[in-house]
Amino acid sequence: MIPHTSSTLIFNSHFTILILLSNFLLTNSLCRNFCNNIPINYPFGIDDGCGAAQFRRMLNCSANDLFFLTPSGIYKIQNIDYEKKTVVIFDPSMSTCSILQPHHDFIMTDIQSATIPPSPDTVFALMNCSIDSPVLNHYKSLCFNFSGHSCDELYGGCSSFKLFHILSNTTPACCFTTYGTVKYMSMNILDCTHYTSVYNVDGLKGVAPLDWLYGMKLGYSVPDLGCVQCVKSGGSCGFDVETEAFLCICSSSSSSSSNNATRDCGANGAGRGSGMSAGKSDTDAAAAAPLLVIGAAAAAFVFFLGPFFS
Ligand SMILES: *[C@@H]1O[C@H](CO)[C@@H](O)[C@H](O)[C@H]1NC(C)=O
Ligand SMILES: *[C@@H]1O[C@H](CO)[C@@H](O)[C@H](O)[C@H]1NC(C)=O
Ligand SMILES: *[C@@H]1O[C@H](CO)[C@@H](O)[C@H](O)[C@H]1NC(C)=O
Ligand SMILES: *[C@@H]1O[C@H](CO)[C@@H](O)[C@H](O)[C@H]1NC(C)=O
Repeated sequence: MIPHTSSTLIFNSHFTILILLSNFLLTNSLCRNFCNNIPINYPFGIDDGCGAAQFRRMLNCSANDLFFLTPSGIYKIQNIDYEKKTVVIFDPSMSTCSILQPHHDFIMTDIQSATIPPSPDTVFALMNCSIDSPVLNHYKSLCFNFSGHSCDELYGGCSSFKLFHILSNTTPACCFTTYGTVKYMSMNILDCTHYTSVYNVDGLKGVAPLDWLYGMKLGYSVPDLGCVQCVKSGGSCGFDVETEAFLCICSSSSSSSSNNATRDCGANGAGRGSGMSAGKSDTDAAAAAPLLVIGAAAAAFVFFLGPFFS
């Protein structure tokens, strides 16, 4: 019994070592592909040099959350849907049904506006607009109702928005509009003191404001740079941090010989490619190297000692 048990144990530990080793070799340790429980796939990356260059420096992974960075602030990412190509973010300083917070602008970089703008079914609700607001005058046509809801409904529908009514004894003007409006006119120009944003508005027919989805849904497009081919060959897509040229980062590489852009990890011969040098700092590569050595040592251990124990 005892020898049998111990050989099972040893077999299991071989197995664990092999699994650990193959995981290390198969996944690219240089590009983290999870931030907490949110998968990070192309075109996004949380390590510089990973993902598509167009999306560089947009995400920040902290201990508990994943954030979307824009010039106007840091927005918590609630989910990324890689099939629908959408990212839902939440602005912690905007008003919602339960909290009233003075407006601040939502500003994206030009690149963000072009590559990952708010989707058409994300609506901005501008509230407590002054009678001089452009959206009540010259740009009235930018306001609309969605799914049978008028913006005024908000003032009665939520505890926070009721305050406007209570404080002013009238119903101040309100406007549902698209990202385009807030992109071209700052909140100061729009002259509305508060805003909120709601997404998936097409599905909100008959749903009361209390149950709307507050936040913004961004829709992105994936640059077609040969990533599919790279992933098929076992690599992960990234870019050169200096030139921002596409790189297929091959998962295992013991050679530092190839710093060349490649589209296919297989094309360079198995296990060779741009590997460690692709878009990462020296410290990361240095940190990864001992792991490879440990992995190799573990493999050697299993290889040489395995037969004696099993
Ligand atoms: C990401 O967040 C961390 C911690 O909040 C911060 O130290 C770091 O500078 C941020 N990185 C970027 C690129 O903003
Ligand atoms: C939105 O609906 C309200 C109430 O039904 C109506 O008074 C208003 O004219 C509508 N606004 C637009 C832009 O259609
Ligand atoms: C609504 O806007 C007016 C100015 O147009 C402002 O004086 C008032 O404080 C605002 N209401 C709230 C609740 O912030
Ligand atoms: C990069 O590619 C060029 C042309 O294919 C080749 O001559 C050169 O040796 C490669 N460099 C490395 C470091 O592999």
